[in-house]
Amino acid sequence: MTLAEPLLSSARTLDVVEMFSGDGELSAACLRKGLLVQSIDRENGPLQDLGTMVGLQFAIDAIMNLKVGGLLWLAPPCQNWVFLSMSVHRRSATNDYLGRPSSRLTQEANSLLYINTALVRLAVARGAKYIIEQPLDSRMLKTKCMAKVFHMTGARRVVTYLKSFAETFPCAKGLHLAGNADFLQALVRNRPEGKASDGIYTIDSITGSVTGGPELAGTASYPSGFGEAAQALLLPERAFSCWLCYVQSLLQSSQGC
Ligand SMILES: C[S@@+](CC[C@H](N)C(=O)[O-])C[C@H]1O[C@@H](n2cnc3c(N)ncnc32)[C@H](O)[C@@H]1O
Repeated sequence: MTLAEPLLSSARTLDVVEMFSGDGELSAACLRKGLLVQSIDRENGPLQDLGTMVGLQFAIDAIMNLKVGGLLWLAPPCQNWVFLSMSVHRRSATNDYLGRPSSRLTQEANSLLYINTALVRLAVARGAKYIIEQPLDSRMLKTKCMAKVFHMTGARRVVTYLKSFAETFPCAKGLHLAGNADFLQALVRNRPEGKASDGIYTIDSITGSVTGGPELAGTASYPSGFGEAAQALLLPERAFSCWLCYVQSLLQSSQGC
């Protein structure tokens, strides 16, 4: 028996892998509906830090365990990719949005980008779907390596607003959702009232300097309404992939007769 055999032959049990799960609203909503979920975030412990070999192995194992038609959801940290930290990263079209080589934080964020693109490719090669999420002003989805993955996987990109899923959400922050999951379009919402920056940051009218606001931390987490909406869309896809497996097994058994 070769080393690869146990992995390839073992049953694939996961419906969803939520990477960078944070407060875990999406995972919790999926679990409530009986879906099998693995959430991954370094806040869950050192074994789940994607910046380490052991964390990377953990993520690879989880993705290998995703069912055909299962979903890899990624919400990578955006701090080093957004307008607010422009003075640190200096990402622009002229440097392919990879920013300043002298910034350690930017290099770390770039490493995570390459890890994410590799994990997405693995998921797609295993027959899973994926969605990656970033705020509208993030430069991450504009990088060449992301664009290449989108091209290879026939991905679509849509815009949605978390406030449209929960009135209490503090600002009209917009999100890009990109990926090859068929239900992406169903998560699109129109821009709600209010400013994207409400409570998130202020710009000094004289110096032009940008300062984070009190609501900044809270806007990283999904409101529960968003988790509910996403998992509700997952169920039909799961039913379809089960149906497909059933038809395939019927065809195989009839060929065997
Ligand atoms: C934008 S937040 C995601 C928030 C999440 N969508 C939610 O609803 O709470 C990014 C997350 O990535 C996690 N993270 C950052 N670097 C990581 C790493 N190297 N490995 C694993 N998780 C990481 C952070 O702990 C944080 O929870």
